[in-house]
Amino acid sequence: MKTIKPISKLTTKEKELVKKALEVKKRAYAPYSNYSVGCALTDEEGKIFTGCNVENASYPAGLCAERTAIVKMISEGGKKIKSIVVAASSEEPVFPCGMCLQVIQEFGADSEVIAVNNPGKLFQRALTRTLFPFAFDPEKLNK
Ligand code: THU
Repeated sequence: MKTIKPISKLTTKEKELVKKALEVKKRAYAPYSNYSVGCALTDEEGKIFTGCNVENASYPAGLCAERTAIVKMISEGGKKIKSIVVAASSEEPVFPCGMCLQVIQEFGADSEVIAVNNPGKLFQRALTRTLFPFAFDPEKLNK
């Protein structure tokens, strides 16, 4: 069910993540789609990691904002995503693409996603497991 709410309904910590996602969105390298995305996530220790989409002239080489932030988290020693905010360029809050959900699932099966609209006044929230109920997880590799 769609429940879009004003940003004022978020907690102070969540608002801080939203602010960071909107800030990093300004650094998006998106000359091909003209669609900027910013992402800010917290790991289980409360550390914040951010990322933007980074496109490429060879289109499939481009990277989404969520995966940029997750790769930064892992490479800097973070282990698990607790909460992830995605600020996209649509008037309606937009949840992560399928490829990003697969990567969010790998490092945050119990995480929550907050999608923020453009210009950052509205949000929608959902658990990763709700967005991706039949995820392919590592357990399935050995059974
Ligand atoms: N994009 C993201 O960064 N995250 C998503 O979840 C969906 C799409 C980026 C990829 C591409 O640079 C642009 O948005 C248009 O698809």
